[in-house]
Amino acid sequence: MHVREWNPATAPGSDLEAWRLLYNEMLAADMPGEPHWRADNLRAYMAVTMPDENRGDWFAEYDGRVVGVADLLLLDDLGVVEVYVSPDHRRRGVARTLLAEAVRRAHESGRTVLGAEVAAGTPATAFYQAYGFQLTCVEQRNLLDLATVDWGRLREHATRTGSGYRIEYFPGGPPAELLNAYATAKQVVQGDWELHPSSYSPDRLAHSLATLHARGLTPHVVCAVHSRTGAIAGLTEVVASALHPERADQYDTVVVPAHRGYGLGLAMKARMLLELRDAVPDLRDVQTWQSMENEPMARVNAELGFVADREWHEYEASVPALAAQLGI
Ligand SMILES: CC(C)(COP(=O)(O)OP(=O)(O)OC[C@H]1O[C@@H](n2cnc3c(N)ncnc32)[C@H](O)[C@@H]1OP(=O)(O)O)[C@@H](O)C(=O)NCCC(=O)NCCS
Repeated sequence: MHVREWNPATAPGSDLEAWRLLYNEMLAADMPGEPHWRADNLRAYMAVTMPDENRGDWFAEYDGRVVGVADLLLLDDLGVVEVYVSPDHRRRGVARTLLAEAVRRAHESGRTVLGAEVAAGTPATAFYQAYGFQLTCVEQRNLLDLATVDWGRLREHATRTGSGYRIEYFPGGPPAELLNAYATAKQVVQGDWELHPSSYSPDRLAHSLATLHARGLTPHVVCAVHSRTGAIAGLTEVVASALHPERADQYDTVVVPAHRGYGLGLAMKARMLLELRDAVPDLRDVQTWQSMENEPMARVNAELGFVADREWHEYEASVPALAAQLGI
């Protein structure tokens, strides 16, 4: 087996295609039903990071054929690793070798914690546990199949809000003149949910939006605006990807506490789905990791037709301990 580092920004298209084929092979084996990734924008998706982030990418090859990949994202305080191995090359130490590369890089870069996020029920859980990764968080993915949506009812929800609010849709993200009010709304509810990306200052928010666009991801935003003051009373964000246009990601939904109880959460999410139906013609479903136990968001999601799909597990391990175990 031969391991080589590669750079998604400069690699030939054949490397990107090898990564994509392996990823889709993994999806077919471990997560049937998951939309396969298309080639559109893959280079930008992989190569562009936030200004303060770095990444490392490795291939494991047999006879010139890619049989495993590892991707490492170096964030401020930790590294996040993903390892995938072709189903017909498993249990031969390919992932272990790739993990060792990622651990070496994380170690050299001064990160002391390595994280991994995996779909429950896949071999990845046993793999990370074998190297001492500890479960730190369990999230429930929920899916809304658009084929099950009652669009007439949704239209009613979208228009039924307390008087004094208007619901506005912004394809591509909030406009520049709303960035301050938008960041303020996010800040007010900071701590309510694990928000992603954590973009509370207008600057950070502008960077996040620019990064999303540069990666070929399209944010769609619906805001509830308090008409008298112009304040953002609530917002919901969905991100569509050219890589898998059939499935969009629900990001944050927040209603500022002073404006809760007026039906804004349901109205914003309903309006979002109505807009997405036209804006993203290939869209089949929307996924969210917002907790179904989080009242009142759970009620809103259930009313819209989101159903629990599968669990995702977040793991963490100490980099020095991993380095010792892997003989680095
Ligand atoms: C997890 C994965 C990367 C492991 O790849 P691999 O090359 O087979 O792993 P290795 O051979 O290096 O295994 C190293 C050790 O991990 C553990 N391990 C790996 N796969 C395991 C499995 N299916 N069951 C139990 N233990 C496992 C074992 O301890 C193994 O050592 P051993 O074979 O000497 O017992 C591979 O199964 C994969 O790509 N899975 C899908 C990834 C995924 O998470 N998909 C969902 C998206 S997040």
